[in-house]
Amino acid sequence: MIWLQGRHAGFALVAASIVLGPSPGLAVQEGENPHTSLEDVDAGQRLFGMHCSRCHGFDASGDEGPSLRRDRFRRAQSDAGLFRVISEGVPDTGMPPISRGRTDQTVWRIITFLRSINQPPESISLPGDVEAGRRVYAGRGACATCHMIAGTGRLLGPDLTTIGDRRSPAELRADLLEPDRDVALRWWSVKVTYEDGRTLEGIRMNEDTYSYRLLDADENLWSVTKRGLRERERIETSTMPSYDGDLSASELDDLIAYLFSLRTEESLP
Ligand code: HEC
Ligand code: HEC
Repeated sequence: MIWLQGRHAGFALVAASIVLGPSPGLAVQEGENPHTSLEDVDAGQRLFGMHCSRCHGFDASGDEGPSLRRDRFRRAQSDAGLFRVISEGVPDTGMPPISRGRTDQTVWRIITFLRSINQPPESISLPGDVEAGRRVYAGRGACATCHMIAGTGRLLGPDLTTIGDRRSPAELRADLLEPDRDVALRWWSVKVTYEDGRTLEGIRMNEDTYSYRLLDADENLWSVTKRGLRERERIETSTMPSYDGDLSASELDDLIAYLFSLRTEESLP
């Protein structure tokens, strides 16, 4: 905790020394949120990660602090109310004010992010069409050859049933265009060559000192003993192809709108 506070003080210092012009102090806001673009959603997500996630969880689903994945809050009825809670904290609780030196824009962007993960997806205006995106997913994209949605599809990629909870529209676009960026260890593959020249490639489901368990492209699970292999190669790129150029700009927009609509149904406690 002391370490975290020290780190916070560091942030505040840096911010104070680079923010020029209007005072970085936080004024009490009564008006509407002036920062609600898609860029603000993404900036807000990063800011949330820096300032809030250690207590509220990276996906805002709660940890030491309560889940913020809800469209109504106990402590605030409006965006202006949220602005007050975030900038002033909740006295006598574990909810601190955001570090001094933060700008109004910082707070509004965090609110925009919170609203974006809580609003029904229909109320966020994305250029694409959800139903058209559903057709791209099942048709031209052939995404179900690797992914599962609500129990249908395959397990050669992450389950996408609630992907809209985890990824912002901009992240979804990056997932589709640059799948090789940031491939989680879980999705690395291995290519092995046996003594007789046969090869086998698959997603590494498991590995210990002596063996691998590999899931091949037909969803067969193989146990491979490392001893006696001629060669083994770890592949850290994604098995997912890039759809850059393969899908038109509007097909991509539709697909992103569809993926972003895939969420957990939230019910208030
Ligand atoms: C040190 C831990 C901590 C940090 C950091 C923190 N919070 Fe909290 N937060 C809490 C706790 C604990 C509560 C519950 C307070 C209470 O009793 O109502 C809370 C409550 C809240 C509430 C009220 C929830 C409701 O239903 O009314 C909001 C909104 C909130 N936090 C947003 C944020 C945001 C946004 C940030 C980052 C800028 C943040 N918090 C940073 C611990 C933290
Ligand atoms: C050949 C298998 C394959 C196909 C086909 C495929 N994917 Fe993937 N996908 C993966 C794998 C493996 C990952 C995890 C590694 C990574 O991040 O690229 C992944 C990751 C993703 C992610 C990020 C998931 C997360 O939890 O962060 C999204 C979103 C996604 N794919 C959507 C799609 C869509 C939409 C299509 C169809 C247009 C598609 N994929 C086609 C294998 C595939």
